[in-house]
Amino acid sequence: MNLKIVFVGLGAIGTLFTACAKDVDVSKLPAPSPKKDVTFAKDIKPIFEKACVKCHGAEKPKARLRLDNLEGVLKGSSDGKVIEPGNSAKSSLVHSVARIGDEDYWMPPPKNKDKIPALTAEQVGLIRAWIDQGAK
Ligand code: HEC
Repeated sequence: MNLKIVFVGLGAIGTLFTACAKDVDVSKLPAPSPKKDVTFAKDIKPIFEKACVKCHGAEKPKARLRLDNLEGVLKGSSDGKVIEPGNSAKSSLVHSVARIGDEDYWMPPPKNKDKIPALTAEQVGLIRAWIDQGAK
């Protein structure tokens, strides 16, 4: 067997692994808010309405993900679930708004034409608390 080809192959696999591993370093997430009884209607909807619904509302929602109502958030996107009730650290929506992991999925996108700013650590913490408490 040609050793050179084996080494090139191993190198490619290694690069792939590093690419996946750098995906999400959840230790970088802001801590969940200590607030009790966090609900979508009361606490989260106002955040999403300001920062997300422009692109994830009723009309042609990006990635077919609707964030203007609880059912839509729980249903997820054309790629599947974006939150895991009870586990905010594993929820891809949290990775997106905290801007860890793949830059293509940072939300709102850093270069959006309406200049919607990134969520604050407090807002991310509140979203985490809401998901950890079961996403009601
Ligand atoms: C300016 C438009 C825009 C805004 C504002 C925006 N998004 Fe997005 N969002 C997109 C686009 C475009 C995609 C699809 C990205 C792709 O598939 O490459 C996307 C995809 C996503 C995904 C991934 C869906 C999947 O599984 O493929 C999540 C989660 C998400 N957005 C959450 C949010 C949240 C939460 C907010 C508000 C804090 C937000 N987005 C604000 C445009 C936007």
